[in-house]
Amino acid sequence: MKEARVYLDYHATTPIDNRVFNAMLPFLKEDFGNPSSTFHSYGWKTREAVNDARKTIAASFKAQPREIIFTSGSTESNNLAIRGVTAKYRTKGNHIITCSTEHKSVLSVCSYLENLGVNVTYLPVDRNGLLDLNKLYDAITDTTILISLMTANNEIGVIHPMKEIGRITKEKNIIFHTDATQAVGKMKLDVDELGIDLMSLTGHKIYGPKGIGILYVRSENPTVQLEPQITGGSQENNLRAGTLNVPGIIGLAKAIELCDELYQEEIHSTKNLRDMLLEGIRQNIDNIGVNGSLEHRIPNNLNISFRGIEAQALLMMLDDIALSLGSACLGSTIEPSHVLRALYIPEEDMYSAVRFGLGRFTSDEEIQYVIERLTETVPMLRSQQPSRKKTKTTTAKEGNKYE
Ligand SMILES: Cc1ncc(COP(=O)(O)O)c(C=O)c1O
Repeated sequence: MKEARVYLDYHATTPIDNRVFNAMLPFLKEDFGNPSSTFHSYGWKTREAVNDARKTIAASFKAQPREIIFTSGSTESNNLAIRGVTAKYRTKGNHIITCSTEHKSVLSVCSYLENLGVNVTYLPVDRNGLLDLNKLYDAITDTTILISLMTANNEIGVIHPMKEIGRITKEKNIIFHTDATQAVGKMKLDVDELGIDLMSLTGHKIYGPKGIGILYVRSENPTVQLEPQITGGSQENNLRAGTLNVPGIIGLAKAIELCDELYQEEIHSTKNLRDMLLEGIRQNIDNIGVNGSLEHRIPNNLNISFRGIEAQALLMMLDDIALSLGSACLGSTIEPSHVLRALYIPEEDMYSAVRFGLGRFTSDEEIQYVIERLTETVPMLRSQQPSRKKTKTTTAKEGNKYE
């Protein structure tokens, strides 16, 4: 295997931005105090820095600083949100609504809770990965306490209609949690405008460090209460015990600040590069299908089925390009992803699907290079490989029927 020279797996993780790294450095060295130490300046200094970071993060989402709870990342935030609400509101009801295309860290919590007697509705999506809001309405009962729907999908990049979901949850007086991991920096997230009560995000998808994230927890209209899942200290309003990850928190705040600063320029340039990639693939390779709606999609994602080949074989041939088959969190398995399954696309399209994730450091030249490599490799593999189920050859236009 060659060392990859082009990184197109930004949904899996991102490199730390130098500006983030520089902001973190002092807190890895001289400013090492524990913010819970109240009797000396080491503690005061980091406490103040954490307070400032909390303010920066809150301001980005139009939230209050006290509504920001630091966690180790989105997996933990999703756990705290869903388990925390279910435990706290047990007497009010025991029904949760989510969606079949959610990240595993939501789905596995839901499945665990089902074993404990909680009722969970998994909303389906259509062929484009989109929700039917009438189905959401119909699923709501008197016992529904939580609706957990991700902002943008990590495999197909499809965006759920946040504003409408927020409106429904407010009308029905149900807590709304969203996993915004893949949406931060790609969409404006105003918790009041979108009616969000709980929101998970993580540092390592936005050029910040790994092992740090937040759960936004609404404090008024309504006041959301949670049962803590990690106990043993009074940190984070008694919602998440443990010494704060100060360098991580400083890095996360800087990463979010940069996302806001670069927002317009970044979504514009990433979308241009993504469109260039799609156009290059369409012009040079026939019989492909884009999985998920192109219209309702974050600007840095493409998920394409190259019919007639196994995506795994393609990625092995393209070992100078870092790509992913499906969700990175399931990276080592070759089971078709649950997201593509939920779209009910043909089995063969699931096995031939490749996820392209573009990011801050993706260049024009890199995209040209990827198009060239795909253009030489896909036909070569098609001529060699007995596909899982021989497809009839269609034109590139016919091939794009999932757009
Ligand atoms: C949508 C989504 N939610 C949750 C996670 C988990 O995030 P973390 O790695 O911070 O636990 C991921 C990571 O792949 C993700 O893409």
